[in-house]
Amino acid sequence: MHIPVLPKETIEYLNPKPGDTIVDGTINGGGHSEEILNKIGDKGMIIGIDQDAGILNKLKERWKGRKNIFLANDNFRNLEKVLDSLKIEEVDGVLLDIGISSLQLEESGRGFSFQKDEPLYMTMRSDVDPGVLTAREIVNRWSEAELSDLIWNCGEERFSRKIAANIIRRREKKPIETTFELVDVIRESVPGFYRNNRRINCATRTFQALRIAVNDELGAFKEGLEAASKRLKKGGRLAVITFHSLEDRIAKKFFKDLADAGKGKILAKKPVIPSEEEIKNNPRSRSAKLRAVEIL
Ligand SMILES: C[S@@+](CC[C@H](N)C(=O)[O-])C[C@H]1O[C@@H](n2cnc3c(N)ncnc32)[C@H](O)[C@@H]1O
Repeated sequence: MHIPVLPKETIEYLNPKPGDTIVDGTINGGGHSEEILNKIGDKGMIIGIDQDAGILNKLKERWKGRKNIFLANDNFRNLEKVLDSLKIEEVDGVLLDIGISSLQLEESGRGFSFQKDEPLYMTMRSDVDPGVLTAREIVNRWSEAELSDLIWNCGEERFSRKIAANIIRRREKKPIETTFELVDVIRESVPGFYRNNRRINCATRTFQALRIAVNDELGAFKEGLEAASKRLKKGGRLAVITFHSLEDRIAKKFFKDLADAGKGKILAKKPVIPSEEEIKNNPRSRSAKLRAVEIL
């Protein structure tokens, strides 16, 4: 199971009330939505979106028979389209808990984890059709300069140039097909102190960069924030949980721009982070940051 991150704090900032209509743009296993449902009651409604059809189907099965829930297999960048299809004009709250879930990391078999030997897909969509962009395609087709820029810009990896150069060298012999093959290239590209760092695996940043590119995570996030702010009613709230600095910077800037334009009130000056106890119980929460804004 995926353990919801910052559960109490998310509810406090989203502040769902009886009868509210709330969009959970990243519903996954429904952890946060369960808490939201407790607050909105039978008269409220959850519109749950997730781009991973496999995960959404499991949730549909679990929640069969519940009436005040609508689940859409879509990207949250299409939030307006989903609301239009339901003829819903405005909502009371939107939650985006972005990034990857434990279910995808551990069970999807799509190559999100550098600790498992899996095909190099990294797409959050469970349908890996020929037309869907994968990490394998990026690693084997992009130029050295494109790879180096990606690993630097989206992974903030200081050995990006060396890693990109070695990816090119390796793939000239044989395409890089699996996570372990890629980890091997990364390990030989970085100095010993970095390779043996116990705090952060030397493949973390390169994997993050590839996942961001495969799923266009930053583009989708910007469009999702924009769409949410358009469809929230006055007094409605937008809460977002991010997991690395690139995402947090986008949220911070978006909220500041809203506030500067007199269209939003920032609900906490500093992002809300998990307590030591939460991090102990759920280590994956350690980099989470929650920000929230109220629409004016
Ligand atoms: C961290 S999990 C959310 C966990 C959920 N809040 C819970 O408590 O169970 C993120 C989920 O969002 C989905 N996701 C990420 N980016 C998305 C996007 N742009 N559109 C739709 N779903 C997305 C992923 O497929 C994943 O299932």
